[in-house]
Amino acid sequence: MRKIVVILFSSLFSISLCYADITLPAPQTKDGMSLFESLKKRSSTPGPGFPNGQISDEELSTVLWAASGLNRGTTGWTVPMGTGKQPYVRIYVASEKGTFLYEWEGHYLKEINNKDIRADVGLQNFVKRANYVLIFVTDSAAFNNIKEEKANNFGNIAVGAMSQNIYLASAALDLSARYIHAIKPDVISQELQLPSDNKPIGLMLLGK
Ligand SMILES: Cc1cc2nc3c(=O)[nH]c(=O)nc-3n(C[C@H](O)[C@H](O)[C@H](O)COP(=O)(O)O)c2cc1C
Repeated sequence: MRKIVVILFSSLFSISLCYADITLPAPQTKDGMSLFESLKKRSSTPGPGFPNGQISDEELSTVLWAASGLNRGTTGWTVPMGTGKQPYVRIYVASEKGTFLYEWEGHYLKEINNKDIRADVGLQNFVKRANYVLIFVTDSAAFNNIKEEKANNFGNIAVGAMSQNIYLASAALDLSARYIHAIKPDVISQELQLPSDNKPIGLMLLGK
């Protein structure tokens, strides 16, 4: 009986995902390097010759969770958000397999397209070497009662917090990371089919 319930529950869960969406394994939330050790290790991996090895699903899951995952019930995140709103900066994940949106609520990757856009999103040639290119996109629609300048500041502050969490998680997992501000916003907006109030801010390269 217990087995039937488990099977029923897991099939209900997978039906709620689109066929090409990717379930992420649970993130690492204990053990590993101490926060202070990872603060000592944090650095940007040089762009030229950025390592192009494969990151595991567990590592990707942990990095994304560190960037904007839930850490307290259903309305608490690993990064602070203005007025306690849900994350108004979204993380798109560009990879060899295609482009995905990180859905923090169910901790999974929602497929956006099946294209490898890594070579198209940054102004520097080495960007395409990264196993994963995370793309930060601010959703200004979340701020309909806040002035534009303040909304932009809120988005930039969130990207700062998210990218620092990614740097620290990457240091703890011995992954390579580099924040990139030199992007092609028009290409990104077109490839991700972003609505006009969504603005690409920067990238985070992940490698091993
Ligand atoms: C706001 C910001 C913008 C950046 N933009 C780029 C960029 O476009 N391209 C790049 O290769 N590195 C970029 N970086 C990475 C910095 O060059 C790097 O953080 C800096 O050299 C300090 O190195 P560290 O992170 O190892 O301390 C950026 C970093 C920040 C914080």
